[in-house]
Amino acid sequence: MSNGGKTAHRNLFAKGYPAHLRKKHRRVLAILVFVVLGAPLSLWLAPKPHMLSAVEPSSAGKDIFSSKCVACHSIGEGKKIGPDLKGVTTRHSKEWIKKFVRNPQSLKDSGDAAAIKLFAEFAPMVMAPQELSDTEVDAVLAYIEQAPASAGSMETASRKNGESAQSKEKDLWPYYGWRGIGESKGYMPDQPIAFSHKLHAGTMKINCLYCHFGAEKSRHAGIPPVNVCMNCHQAVKRDSPEVQKIIKAFQENKPIEWIKVHNLPDHVQFNHSVHVNAGVDCLKCHGDVPHMVKMRQAKKLTMGECISCHREIHQKNPATRNQPNRLLDCANCHH
Ligand code: HEC
Ligand code: HEC
Ligand code: HEC
Ligand code: HEC
Ligand code: HEC
Ligand code: HEC
Repeated sequence: MSNGGKTAHRNLFAKGYPAHLRKKHRRVLAILVFVVLGAPLSLWLAPKPHMLSAVEPSSAGKDIFSSKCVACHSIGEGKKIGPDLKGVTTRHSKEWIKKFVRNPQSLKDSGDAAAIKLFAEFAPMVMAPQELSDTEVDAVLAYIEQAPASAGSMETASRKNGESAQSKEKDLWPYYGWRGIGESKGYMPDQPIAFSHKLHAGTMKINCLYCHFGAEKSRHAGIPPVNVCMNCHQAVKRDSPEVQKIIKAFQENKPIEWIKVHNLPDHVQFNHSVHVNAGVDCLKCHGDVPHMVKMRQAKKLTMGECISCHREIHQKNPATRNQPNRLLDCANCHH
């Protein structure tokens, strides 16, 4: 990628419109939209008591499991960070489970033999207290009892987790560090937290989409908001100074300012969801991420690389052959 040292100002929003005005107008617009729509909308959207009780237990249970438990538990697929929850209601009473789920540590500290045994078996992992009502725990247990064997795979969970995380912290981008174009393959900046893909995506095999949930449905794969990390780090490795940074960001409700590694020039448009839904593996373009302790740009991501894959697909796939040059037209990638 040779750009002759141009320093392009990247902006994800409108172009050809002075940056300071854009920012200001966006803010004014956001406030207006909030005033006009926000207040009545939030009233309208706020869950009403009768709506909550009308929710089907199994679907409510599934939603809770997918957003709060699946990172650490499977149902019938073996141990993850915590025990396989298949048959858990035959191992403990529902009363015990309710106490445990809401505060595992205090149940252990009270001298409960089953809790002490679990803690010993799973150390150093510990379960974070889950703020769930009795009804909600009942719903999760009902879901666990009737869940198909494949439940609890990261695949199904990533979406759900993504949605709830996304609605909390919609716009991940304004906080994200940008660099000028020109550096490319091999670029490996220091990050504010020593996050390791080798540990999370390699050793622990957490699905890419669990964290980069944007990749399936939008242009951007996105970087996970802090609350996705907190699904585990609320309890896991709390005394690590690196994890303390996550906890601090979460408590202060501030995003972590990750430095962006991959950057295409402004005149190119790239869309993740098109590629992910066509079955192109992340590793094809990003290299051997599950072995990267520190993230780096593994491939050049030049026009030549895009085109050579597109040409191959164009030749192999009858569907694209009928639409001559759909994958090769300049306008597809350049505006
Ligand atoms: C951060 C990872 C993590 C999350 C998230 C988590 N758990 Fe756990 N869970 C564990 C660990 C680890 C244990 C083993 C006990 C310990 O060391 O804390 C455990 C134990 C359990 C047990 C006892 C199981 C048995 O076989 O005896 C139940 C029940 C349980 N968890 C339910 C849940 C539910 C329900 C959720 C979601 C609402 C949840 N957990 C979320 C990590 C987690
Ligand atoms: C066909 C190539 C290709 C595939 C497949 C691909 N990416 Fe990317 N990815 C890119 C390019 C090119 C960029 C830089 C985009 C830019 O600067 O606008 C990028 C950027 C990113 C970023 C930075 C944030 C962003 O959204 O721009 C993340 C995170 C990412 N990719 C993760 C993934 C994950 C996870 C997958 C698989 C689910 C994946 N990518 C699949 C080419 C690809
Ligand atoms: C599914 C659970 C899970 C999620 C989600 C998760 N982590 Fe972790 N992470 C772990 C576990 C477990 C370890 C500790 C592994 C060990 O040392 O045995 C760990 C270790 C770490 C460490 C190393 C701590 C140390 O000092 O050894 C850092 C830093 C870290 N995670 C950052 C993050 C960040 C940032 C996120 C969010 C983007 C995140 N993690 C999301 C489970 C998770
Ligand atoms: C536990 C959450 C988590 C998982 C799982 C995860 N990532 Fe990431 N990913 C992150 C975080 C946090 C960053 C930003 C920090 C960094 O670059 O290391 C990131 C950054 C990236 C980037 C660089 C984006 C940029 O700045 O241009 C790529 C590419 C990427 N991830 C791809 C993947 C792929 C491919 C997988 C699956 C093999 C994966 N990730 C799994 C959390 C995760
Ligand atoms: C490893 C193969 C591969 C690489 C590398 C690749 N693509 Fe693609 N691209 C695909 C596939 C597969 C499709 C979807 C084809 C289809 O819809 O039938 C696609 C579709 C697209 C489309 C949508 C075309 C349309 O009209 O639907 C755009 C735009 C695009 N790619 C841009 C890029 C850019 C920019 C790069 C380089 C940064 C790139 N691609 C690299 C495989 C690749
Ligand atoms: C599949 C996507 C794709 C298609 C199709 C495509 N380009 Fe590109 N183009 C890129 C990417 C990615 C870059 C930026 C990386 C680089 O400079 O190699 C780029 C860069 C460029 C540049 C700037 C080079 C520089 O050094 O700054 C020019 C000029 C260009 N393309 C012209 C074209 C023309 C003309 C066509 C049609 C014949 C075309 N492109 C078709 C993806 C594409």
